[in-house]
Amino acid sequence: MDLSLENKVVLITGASRGIGQAIAMGLTQAGADVAIASRKLPDLEKVAEAIKKTGRKCLPVAAHIGKIEEINNLVKKVMDEFGKIDILVNNAATNPTMASAIDIDDRAWDSIMNLNLKGLFFLSQAVARIMKEKGGGKIINVASIAGITPDILPVYSISKAGVIMATKVMAQQWAIYNIRVNAIAPGLTKTRFSEALWKNQDILNIAMSRTPLGRPAEPEEMVGAIIYLASDASSYVTGQVLAIDGGMTI
Ligand SMILES: NC(=O)c1ccc[n+]([C@@H]2O[C@H](COP(=O)([O-])OP(=O)(O)OC[C@H]3O[C@@H](n4cnc5c(N)ncnc54)[C@H](OP(=O)(O)O)[C@@H]3O)[C@@H](O)[C@H]2O)c1
Repeated sequence: MDLSLENKVVLITGASRGIGQAIAMGLTQAGADVAIASRKLPDLEKVAEAIKKTGRKCLPVAAHIGKIEEINNLVKKVMDEFGKIDILVNNAATNPTMASAIDIDDRAWDSIMNLNLKGLFFLSQAVARIMKEKGGGKIINVASIAGITPDILPVYSISKAGVIMATKVMAQQWAIYNIRVNAIAPGLTKTRFSEALWKNQDILNIAMSRTPLGRPAEPEEMVGAIIYLASDASSYVTGQVLAIDGGMTI
């Protein structure tokens, strides 16, 4: 079983903090060089500095993944620097509102769907075209258990259900190019994104009453599954969604 990512180039979106940052750090420990993307370059540069101290290469690129021209620019910059992309981790996502399904407006819908689903698909397409030319690759999507069972974020849940289906569609259509596509579905994880949930004691109590392991995840607890799905250890796995949720979906 080979878990090494030596000589691999990985592009990770939303890697300036939270789960994406943990994934970037973890993949470099497994031997990979990384390109990290999000909107704010100064935040990325701090992560890049920490990675470079470990001896791995890291290219920080500012990019809004909901904008096609910025996606294309991102891919070009990574190719100019590294000449290939072996692994793509689609991690960036947003949820700007706690509004219920009866109240949420179309602006919130557009910003969620643009990044979480449209951006994820077209970045994957741009990278898959390169992987196809180079003989293959791996794409890992960060979905959510909210895409498996609905939670209190209605349009976010719909977008993540879309991410799960995008994972299956891409896996099915791109297997002939030797591209494997899988997803992880985190449960409640202690990041800035979900602060409104895990810092609210009432919401946390409800969530933990349905979580057999009885606690939220730390971002670093996502890394093992990503290394498995990015490496040859998972060579016969494609189109799958691995819940990392303390047992919540049981
Ligand atoms: N935390 C949880 O409980 C939880 C549970 C299930 C699934 N997830 C999923 O895990 C992934 C990471 O979430 P997280 O909790 O780590 O969130 P986070 O700490 O808020 O990090 C989000 C990252 O995405 C970047 N980002 C936001 N909008 C962007 C855009 N338009 N273009 C490019 N980058 C953008 C942010 O940087 P900038 O602001 O600088 O762009 C940041 O690097 C997401 O897909 C989320 O849905 C999280």
